[in-house]
Amino acid sequence: MRKLVAAGNWKMNTMLSSAGDLASALAGKVKQDDSIEVILCPPFPYLTTVKEKVSGSSIQVGAQNCYHEAEGAFTGETSVGMLQDVGCDWVILGHSERRHVMGETDGAINKKVVAALAKGLGVILCVGELLEERKADKTNEVLETQMKGGLSGVSADDLKNVIIAYEPVWAIGTGVTASTEEAESAHDFLRKWLTSNYNAESADSMRILYGGSVKPDNAEDLMSQRNVDGALVGGASLKADSFGGIIDAAQKLAKG
Ligand code: 13P
Repeated sequence: MRKLVAAGNWKMNTMLSSAGDLASALAGKVKQDDSIEVILCPPFPYLTTVKEKVSGSSIQVGAQNCYHEAEGAFTGETSVGMLQDVGCDWVILGHSERRHVMGETDGAINKKVVAALAKGLGVILCVGELLEERKADKTNEVLETQMKGGLSGVSADDLKNVIIAYEPVWAIGTGVTASTEEAESAHDFLRKWLTSNYNAESADSMRILYGGSVKPDNAEDLMSQRNVDGALVGGASLKADSFGGIIDAAQKLAKG
């Protein structure tokens, strides 16, 4: 049985006080519940504060990016070790905004994935197609390229510390959510890819999250799909009420 994940990607939002308030409110809600995993990914400057505010709850903290080198003359970058030093359990890599706004390639993403896993930092690897790629019927091809590129050199053992997030780019921040059928079909493809490129056990235990305009009112439908194991939430993770509604939906499904 795969444990559902509700992960909040705050992107470049919140300020110190609002980040702290949001984390405190969610910690008060989640408490020690471990029927699902809740992960908050605030901007770098607020990681320490968020980590402090969620202490005593079961909430985990993740970063939104890292660099593959351990230290040195890499102005503006943040190492895996630094993230672990401030209490991160996870890092989001390959997000579509990093791919399409910052121009990150599968090769660059792969170096980060390998560096994070080598130090035992969990990776939430995002994959997803552009609207024109979907329209050209290239969704699976794009997903395959991103999975192959992102996970190059990653062993089945290291894969235990990976979560995949399927985030169709056309659904991110647009209010247009993939239908449950579209999400399930992509997730099914990803799980089959994992079976053929790793093994059935790795594929069966991998959490594959859906991301793209997840809201409290569509979360339960999406997460109840056979191959959808939770949500990576952007906009709706910025308010305790709406992210709380998504957490409620996941807990309800987890507890049957
Ligand atoms: P939205 O939930 O705002 O569409 O963002 C999704 C996302 O990019 C999460 O990583």
